[in-house]
Amino acid sequence: MGERTSTMTGVLGWLDQRMPVVDFWNKHVGQYYAPKNFNVWYYFGSLALLVLVNQIVTGIFLTMHYKPSAAEAFASVEYIMRDVEWGWLIRYMHSTGASFFFIVVYLHMFRALLYGSYQKPRELIWVLGVVILLLMMAEAFLGYVLPWGQMSFWGAQVIVSLFGAIPIIGPDLVIFIQGDYLPSDATINRFFALHVVALPIALLLLVVLHLGALHEVGSNNPDGIDIKKKKDASGKPLDGIPFHPYYTVKDLFGAGVFLSLFAFVIFFEPTFGDLFLEYDNFAPADPLVTPAQIKPVWYFTPYYAMLRAIPDKFFGVVVMGAAVLILFLVPWLDRSPVRSIRYRGPLTKIALAAFATAFVVLGYLGLQAGSETQTLVARVCTFIYFGFFVAMPLFTKIDSVKPVPERVTMHD
Ligand code: HEM
Repeated sequence: MGERTSTMTGVLGWLDQRMPVVDFWNKHVGQYYAPKNFNVWYYFGSLALLVLVNQIVTGIFLTMHYKPSAAEAFASVEYIMRDVEWGWLIRYMHSTGASFFFIVVYLHMFRALLYGSYQKPRELIWVLGVVILLLMMAEAFLGYVLPWGQMSFWGAQVIVSLFGAIPIIGPDLVIFIQGDYLPSDATINRFFALHVVALPIALLLLVVLHLGALHEVGSNNPDGIDIKKKKDASGKPLDGIPFHPYYTVKDLFGAGVFLSLFAFVIFFEPTFGDLFLEYDNFAPADPLVTPAQIKPVWYFTPYYAMLRAIPDKFFGVVVMGAAVLILFLVPWLDRSPVRSIRYRGPLTKIALAAFATAFVVLGYLGLQAGSETQTLVARVCTFIYFGFFVAMPLFTKIDSVKPVPERVTMHD
């Protein structure tokens, strides 16, 4: 192998001769041309990265003081809150970060639905995204069990027992997952290992693949136009701008606004009225006392409402799982010749609005006790949720489309 030559001098030159750091920077940042018409929806990818880093860094510090055992877990979290220097801040950054992660990622996904970002050639970016979502859900659930409060215990009990609905292997599977007949010391130990080591590594790897897949084909944009089709004499897309400095600066601004909101919640409303940290979880786990209402944290409530809306437990579990898994199919269910909602007809707009509304309403219902009327509304919303995907090949095909411009449009 010949030696690499580098135009750089000094330490960077030395490094660049041994590893193509400058090439890498240019390919992915300095000379990476992104569409110039990104709008606010395009902040959420970089914000998701920011929250991921926040979760990992604050998680490392929590791990220094947390004790993964049924006897000590709850007290160790109280110790972090009261006695560890800045421990309260680290913990609130982590717990608030979990909720903000889902807010940011749900908005990030909605952006993809708005602008058809999952359509060819970006199917893989979307598919990797759905795997990331599944991992995030597992990660959040495992983390929630760790403080070993009442809701940790009973939440784990409800969710793990869902596996018991699987025919034949169900009951044994529950014991296998828990390592005991109830959520217990063994459960905390394994959930801790998965939460702090296995899943974060898998998440990081998948995010790298997600971005790798994105940079292979380039970003979509609010007009859904392929900017690579119109290039200048030097081969640069006419509607593209280098990621650095243009989008590094834009994303820094987004991060500033985001961190202000984040800090506001951490300092003034860390429980967010029972939504981000549930009041019941401030009492230690007690297998003999069932809380009045067992409900998951808000980001799971849309799926939880679906589960409760179905009378049969096994079928409910299937529907809940299908609600996430069906997302994998979206790139192949959408038959529209255009990407962006801007150039699609009324059918797609109505369908997307109905879907988003059903999701939010389900999220609200999942937090409620579940009266008869609420169950009925949850059934209607579950029907709309799945109807959106099932009918997608049809409404995207027959819907009218508007002419798509040759070049991206900019709005003042
Ligand atoms: C840890 C979670 C995630 C991180 C850190 C992340 C990061 C990013 C980043 C930085 C971008 C480029 C900037 C942008 O387009 O906003 C991006 C694009 C994209 N992401 Fe994610 N993402 C995550 C989860 C997801 C999920 C759950 C989905 C969907 C199921 C998804 C689907 C997409 C798509 C389709 C694009 C291309 C968008 C376009 O070009 O218009 N991502 N992601």
